[in-house]
Amino acid sequence: MDKSQSKNSLFSKIQNDFIGLNTVYTLADGRKTERVYLDSTASTLMMGAAYNVLEKFFDHYSNSHSLLHFSAKITTDQYDWAHQRVLSFLNADPESYTCFFTGSGTTAGINRMARVFRDYRKERDVVLVSMMEHHSNDLPHRKHSGEVIHIPLDGHSGDQPGCINMGALEQSLKQYGDRVNYIAVTGISNVTGIINPIHDIAELAHNHGALVLIDGAQTAAHMPVQMSGHKNPMQDIDAFVFSGHKTYVPGSPGVVVCRKEILMAIEPEELGGGMIEDVFVDRYIIKDDFPDREEAGTQNITGAIALAAAIEIMDSLGMNLIYKEEDQLICSAIERMKNFPEIIIYGETDNKKCSRAGSISFNIKGMHHGLVAAVLNDYFNIAVRNECFCAHPYVKELILDDMLDAITDIPEEEIESKYKLIAGMVRASFGIYNKLEDVDTLIRALDKIIAKKEEFIELYHVDEKGDYVHNTFRLETENYFSVNNALNNYLKH
Ligand SMILES: Cc1ncc(COP(=O)(O)O)c(C=O)c1O
Repeated sequence: MDKSQSKNSLFSKIQNDFIGLNTVYTLADGRKTERVYLDSTASTLMMGAAYNVLEKFFDHYSNSHSLLHFSAKITTDQYDWAHQRVLSFLNADPESYTCFFTGSGTTAGINRMARVFRDYRKERDVVLVSMMEHHSNDLPHRKHSGEVIHIPLDGHSGDQPGCINMGALEQSLKQYGDRVNYIAVTGISNVTGIINPIHDIAELAHNHGALVLIDGAQTAAHMPVQMSGHKNPMQDIDAFVFSGHKTYVPGSPGVVVCRKEILMAIEPEELGGGMIEDVFVDRYIIKDDFPDREEAGTQNITGAIALAAAIEIMDSLGMNLIYKEEDQLICSAIERMKNFPEIIIYGETDNKKCSRAGSISFNIKGMHHGLVAAVLNDYFNIAVRNECFCAHPYVKELILDDMLDAITDIPEEEIESKYKLIAGMVRASFGIYNKLEDVDTLIRALDKIIAKKEEFIELYHVDEKGDYVHNTFRLETENYFSVNNALNNYLKH
């Protein structure tokens, strides 16, 4: 077998080994079918290889930070390895960068880094973010770091926005000058999948004395990242944050990779056990070595080890190959959706002007996003997400024109509240396990929904919470899974 053949067979082995690929539900029309999972941008399915590693590791599980008993030695070694694995995955030089794990996904890491950057350069009180940020890469900076300026997006040539507008970014860097502490920008939008040029952003930022924090929640699993080692070091990234649950390991922690010199210059933001050299009643001495210094308390050791296993697999496939495979799905879905005049796809759709990865958000004209998502689920077993995806300013900007057309009869003071009821989109998102067949299934479903729009509208009503609910069909969740049922089964056998 030649090298590319063996890569392809490894890809197919990994692609077909995720937990939940064969989950079957009974649909509103009585058919039983396998779920098509198009909600990876929210959380990815679990990689079988990582699950397997975890099962084996549990035989040896113990707390880390002790080398006295055998299991503690094994756990400590593997937990250390997990940190190194993340650094090499992101091409971050271990001499200059450290990796540490944090609590609740990317959000915890970004809150932490906002406090780190604030304390590192107290005299600077402005943060620049793009208009396409998830709330988790906007609100932490507002709370911890000072004034947040939202940089507009590029109009390219069409009427749909693309990535961050580099001209506007430069203008703000000049306008706010020494007040700018850092730029916090997403590598890939969780709404449109549009990719930002993070290294050009870094170069521009560094040339103006600003630091760069990349929200890598949507980037880590979808494309290669090179934090350091650029020919032009100005293009290197200062800090990168991502989530294990979006990188094929649910239950794993958030991850921060940051330049050591920044962390070393200030006291760690979190204190406790494990990161202390010595404690006296009137003072304490913090460890100098990384990552211990940044990891107070017992970390999510098993999650970190499983995440590193998934990363090892992704690296052995090659992030370029993963990006290319997923790009085919995204391009095929967009091109085919464009054939429907009833579908509005948000964000620049010309791949040559603006590449995407992960997500496509859209609406069907004349149908509420909640209804489309419900029908895709109930009649086609396609799991998608709808609403504003924790990116309200961006979604508002993308749908503003349609919204203004739709609400001409509403007094201005009511626009905000009414707007909340109807604003939103449907998002289809992809991961390693998706195949062109999944795109086919989505396109066939959209075709049928458009053709039978009036019939579907009749089958649903809106409940008191504003959700679209089928008039007669309900999924009884306990028929599929409940902790008590699983426990009863376990106790019976
Ligand atoms: C771009 C982006 N940033 C941040 C987050 C927050 O991630 P987490 O839920 O892991 O905290 C998300 C989650 O969807 C995201 O898509």
